[in-house]
Amino acid sequence: LPSYKDSEGNLYNYKGCWYYPNTLQGVLNYEKGFKPQETDIILASFPKSGTTWLKALTIALFERLKTDTYSDHVLQSDNPHGLVPFLEMSLYLKSSTPDLSKFSSPRVFSTHMPFHTLQLPLKGSPCKVVYVCRNVKDVLVSLWYFRSAHLQKEVEMESLFEPLCKGVGFFGPFWEHVLSYWRGSLEDPKQILFMRYEEMKSEPTAQVKRLAEFLGCPFTEEEEEDGSVDKLVELCSLRNLSGMEINNSGKTFNNVPYSTFFRKGEVGDFKNHLTTEMENKIDKIIQEKYNDSGLKF
Ligand code: A3P
Repeated sequence: LPSYKDSEGNLYNYKGCWYYPNTLQGVLNYEKGFKPQETDIILASFPKSGTTWLKALTIALFERLKTDTYSDHVLQSDNPHGLVPFLEMSLYLKSSTPDLSKFSSPRVFSTHMPFHTLQLPLKGSPCKVVYVCRNVKDVLVSLWYFRSAHLQKEVEMESLFEPLCKGVGFFGPFWEHVLSYWRGSLEDPKQILFMRYEEMKSEPTAQVKRLAEFLGCPFTEEEEEDGSVDKLVELCSLRNLSGMEINNSGKTFNNVPYSTFFRKGEVGDFKNHLTTEMENKIDKIIQEKYNDSGLKF
């Protein structure tokens, strides 16, 4: 396989996407062994695009059907990444036949794989996929903070900027990743919901209602009137989740403390970190890549 080395190690290109070796093994195991159930839900994203938030919202949407109290909420017991594991980076990392018996229907999984790789085992299944996409400049800045926190030293922005532009780096190219879901389709085009981080920030209530409808658990009129939607949005807010004891407990996911998944959560933070040159270069690539796709950033 084509390979390339970054500060964390070797990456390999499999079907157009770059992976570190252990994740690649997880992808291969998934391709070989995953058997979808009709009610499965897969939350997909490019890293740092709002994965944690989407997981929290999905958990909270289903959880509200079981209980109407937010004390002892399942989100207090584990981080969203513990509750909704990654297919390729957790469940299928070591085996193509993991024990999934603890998952009850609907099973909720997550992935950073591009759609063309995710879809193979899903052929013919009516399962649902939600993709969250975020402005690439904020993704870059978020990645830079995340990498720096992980390595416990400030990494050079250039060391992430150049690979991102060139289309290399973990789960890259970003450009094709987003397009794969934007253009992707299963049996029924209605099986994929495309969400945007920026819209989730600017109109959380409307977007959460959209998500609930797609997942087949829409809010009732009574819920809409009694403030349940706003309560759920507040439960899953960055401020609330990042303040929870579980997310400050020192527990980790893939050696990353839970707290590292919560930072600023703002739209446009790139303005504080990228040079005009960097912005121009990214704008040019966006223009080239998305010009005829109907996808706007
Ligand atoms: P910033 O680094 O810009 O703050 P992912 O979950 O895909 O790893 O993405 C992480 C980004 O989502 C981080 O962005 C993080 O702060 C933000 N985030 C995490 N939880 C969030 C929430 N509940 N609401 C909004 N943003 C959230």
